[in-house]
Amino acid sequence: MSNIAVELTKNPKPKPADESKIGFGNTFTDHMFVMNYDEGQGWHDPRIVPYGPLSLDPSAMCLHYGQEVFEGLKAYRTADDHIQLFRPQENFKRLNVSNARLSIPLIDEELCLEGLKKLVEIEKDWVPHIPDTSLYIRPFIITTDAHLGVHPGHHYLFIIILSPSGPYYAEGLNPVKIYVEKNYVRTVKGGMGMAKTGGNYAASLNAQAEAEKQNYSQVLWLDGVERKYIEEVGAMNIFFVIDGEAVTPELTSGSILSGITRKSVLDLIRSWGMKATERRISIDEIVEAHKNGKLGEVFGTGTAAVISPVGHLKYGDLEMEIGGNKIGPISQRLYDELTGIQWGRRPDPFGWTVKID
Ligand code: PLP
Ligand code: COI
Repeated sequence: MSNIAVELTKNPKPKPADESKIGFGNTFTDHMFVMNYDEGQGWHDPRIVPYGPLSLDPSAMCLHYGQEVFEGLKAYRTADDHIQLFRPQENFKRLNVSNARLSIPLIDEELCLEGLKKLVEIEKDWVPHIPDTSLYIRPFIITTDAHLGVHPGHHYLFIIILSPSGPYYAEGLNPVKIYVEKNYVRTVKGGMGMAKTGGNYAASLNAQAEAEKQNYSQVLWLDGVERKYIEEVGAMNIFFVIDGEAVTPELTSGSILSGITRKSVLDLIRSWGMKATERRISIDEIVEAHKNGKLGEVFGTGTAAVISPVGHLKYGDLEMEIGGNKIGPISQRLYDELTGIQWGRRPDPFGWTVKID
């Protein structure tokens, strides 16, 4: 066990009065986990401190060159009032994949998990109670060097903040509308697509703003070279049910985030004895499948998005309605099973949950 110092706040904030109105990522708890990295010393001084603003030099390199990585996971309150995490080891593993891509020193995954568990335990009264709410967890790393040369930093901060949250989409489990982006690209092979880093999201903002203007929730990205193969959505991976078989883009290009929900959904579908395939999928194949009545369901998967049915997919002038704009049977079964495990309503045969108390 490592030594994680704890300084408790003297000014605790009131908890949200109406949990049905918390939204996503608006409110933050009383404490945060912090750890420093200094070259020669490594990661040091893991600690839990009152939540509050950071003091950064205006020349801090993260503000200029985007050397930053982050993660997203959740803590859930079970019906018998325990708190549990969903596959947190996977998030710290993926954080190190992102670190490696952005020249950030690797973290000790076990120490970070221990810090997270301790933080959530301290903040457990902040885990909301009503259905479909949870405590969203945001670990992130920034470089803090006061320097304007373009080099990897020598000093970093690792921080975990917590936000009691409701569903990411206003639609909840109702189908969302997505359009296929034709002008912008998010990333390319050899880029940072497989890393969870701010730059990928910055690259997506013009398209996101345009989508919202046209009343779509997010965009579906195509590959950055041929603009032909499907990659992922702004904040979730994507699945299609074609002729009864679930398919999702393979990860070999390195330009798609390896979603933990995606991986869990593949395991769940296969555990039901159904086929789930990872392969290249062209947008033309989807248009064709829709035309032939073989596109049964489309859904996104993500920590924030959970299972998000897609009711409309727009590609150029073609507006495709999917499954009568209703949640399909596979999406519904996945939603019930996944959220059942996450909120402790169903058994956890895969050992995915980690109890806090
Ligand atoms: N793709 C992107 C771009 C995301 O931001 C997310 C959300 O984290 C996902 C996919 C889904 O990943 P996960 O299931 O690990 O949350
Ligand atoms: C998540 O699902 O955890 C994400 O990180 C999506 C986010 C960009 C809101």
